[in-house]
Parts: sequence; C-alpha cells; structure tokens
Amino acid sequence: MPDAQAAIKLWNKGMVRCSSCNKTMQLQNLQPLQLMPCSNCQDMFFVPKKIGDYFLYEPSGGGGMGSVYKAVSEKFSGELLAIKVLTRAARENPADIHALLNEARVSSFFVNCDFIAACLDSGYEDDEYFAAMPYISGERLDKRIDRLQQLPEKEVMTIGLHLLAAEQHIFHMGYLYRDLKPENIIINQYGYTVLLDFGLCIPRQEAKNCEEEFISGSPYYLPPERLLGQGENASSEIYSLGMLMYHALTGRTYFDADEIQALARRHISGLRLNRAAKMQGLRSSIAILLDVMLRQEPNERPQDFDYVADSLKAIIQEID
Ligand SMILES: Nc1ncnc2c1ncn2[C@@H]1O[C@H](COP(=O)(O)OP(=O)(O)O)[C@@H](O)[C@H]1O
Ligand SMILES: [Mg+2]
Repeated sequence: MPDAQAAIKLWNKGMVRCSSCNKTMQLQNLQPLQLMPCSNCQDMFFVPKKIGDYFLYEPSGGGGMGSVYKAVSEKFSGELLAIKVLTRAARENPADIHALLNEARVSSFFVNCDFIAACLDSGYEDDEYFAAMPYISGERLDKRIDRLQQLPEKEVMTIGLHLLAAEQHIFHMGYLYRDLKPENIIINQYGYTVLLDFGLCIPRQEAKNCEEEFISGSPYYLPPERLLGQGENASSEIYSLGMLMYHALTGRTYFDADEIQALARRHISGLRLNRAAKMQGLRSSIAILLDVMLRQEPNERPQDFDYVADSLKAIIQEID
C-alpha cells in the first residue's frame, strides 16, 4: 500500500498532498473525510482521517446512513480494510448508531466464510462510530451487469453457488440475510463472490414472525412475503437469489417498473404474469430452476439451499 504509507507519513507531519498536482497542504483548517478543492490546481482531493488505529485515506462508497472508506491499520498488519462510518447527520441519531453497531456485531459472527465481508472491529473513536472489514477488491455485481449486459451462464451459476454457501453459513449461525441485490455483492480479484452489507440481517426466529412498519430492501429482489408481512425463511432468500440470477443472465430485472408498482400495491393476483415468456431464451434447465425459485407462493419454491446448490452443480456439468 505505497499510497497509504506515504499519506500516513505526511499526515503525521500535519500535511496532506493533492492527488492531482502533488502540492502539499497543511491539514489544519481542512475538513477531514471530505473532498476539498486544491488551492493550487482546483481539482478535488480527499482529506484523510485517523480513527483510532485506522487511517482512512480514500472514499470508496456511500449509502444512506454511512460512508465507506479504504483504510489501513497496523492492528491488521497493513491489510487493506474498508471502514464504514456514520454520516454527520446519522451520528446524531441513536437509531442509526444502533443500526451500524448492530450490523457490525451481527456480521462479526460470519468471519469464517470466504464469501462474506465480515466485521473485524467496531466502536466509537475520534468522534466517529465505525465498523472495519476487509476491503474487497474487485467489481460490484451491479456495475458488472451494467458493463457486460448479460453474464455468461456458467459465471452466474458459480455466483449462485458462492452466494448459497454464504447463505448456508448465515443460516447455520441462526440468521437470515434479507438484502440480496447486486449492489451488495462484489466479485473479487480471485473470482469469489463476496457478500457485504448486513444491515437487514436478523435472527431467523425474528424473520419468521416479522411484520415491519417500513419495508426495507430493493423492490426488484424483495420476496412478496415481506410486503405481505408474512414472515420469511430460507425460501425467501432463494426467491431473491433467483431474481438476482435472472437479472445477471438476461441483463434485465424479472419484473419491470410497472409490475413492481402492482406488487407494491399488493395486487399480486392482478398481475397477469406470462412466466413462460419471461424465461424465453434461457437454457431449459435454468428456466425450470428459476421458474420454481421465483414462485410468488413460498411453499411452491425449493425450501432449502442444498437443493438449489445441487441443481446449480448439475447445470454447470451440463454446460461443460
Ligand atoms: N468490504 C468492502 N470492500 C469494498 N467495498 C465495500 C465494502 N463494504 C462496502 N463497500 C462499498 O460501499 C458501498 C456501501 O456499503 P454497504 O455496506 O452496502 O452500505 P449501505 O447499507 O449504505 O448500502 C457498497 O455498495 C460497496 O460499493
Ligand atoms: Mg448496500
């Protein structure tokens, strides 16, 4: 991490360097974790910050209540880390503070799975609530789908198998993930599919009887039972996985925007779905599997992850 090490050295001297023109500036009076215009070349540059043992030196993503930065720490031998911190507004909100720390606690249970970016450390230091996890270098699945339009069959089956391994692990630890969507998945540099973002992950028992006032999750991958307040189990994750695989294979979501509107108004029965038409162009073994994974009625879907994993393995053999 030569960039980070050079930035730390400068930071220790109270300085920061513009990434465009290399001009060094005093850190004093600069707002940490912000992009600022360089006084010399006017390009924007990032002002790093140290939070406890962690040196945050590059912005890497943002969501609703939090922002994610690339970081390093001697505590983790200089390994590249991703640190999520609350935005300034969220820092004042006890519910957001609880959400970040709870997400960190829950995801720390999943450290032993290669397909999960689990939390390694979390807390409150230097005026920031933070959660630290390994930084996953690679391409986010939504960006990959945008770039390639349609992913090859075998790649999608492999993504499915990796996600099922992550789902199995989470399930065996007593939890349900509940936020499968391309934005929460990175294909890393070794071709592993890695799951991020445990903001909606709750104990299985809770998910079974869950009736939420506010529905969270991306509508395109959301199991209908969440909208109906009917409780969720493994078959709900299998539905979301089916939606995700369909999107990656065809380059389009299974439901279009109008159909999603109808679903959100709970007019599921009013939707006259032409399921066969939606599957057109897909290999028949894939179409048969996706068709059952995507049933609106949870009881009609496969009920366990192993069944789906075995089906994906058989399809991979057929492709080879
Ligand atoms: N461990 C990580 N490695 C690399 N990038 C990450 C990591 N965690 C999060 N990100 C990036 O930050 C974005 C937001 O993180 P996420 O945990 O999904 O938060 P949110 O709840 O705001 O969606 C991700 O979509 C991804 O681009
Ligand atoms: Mg996310």
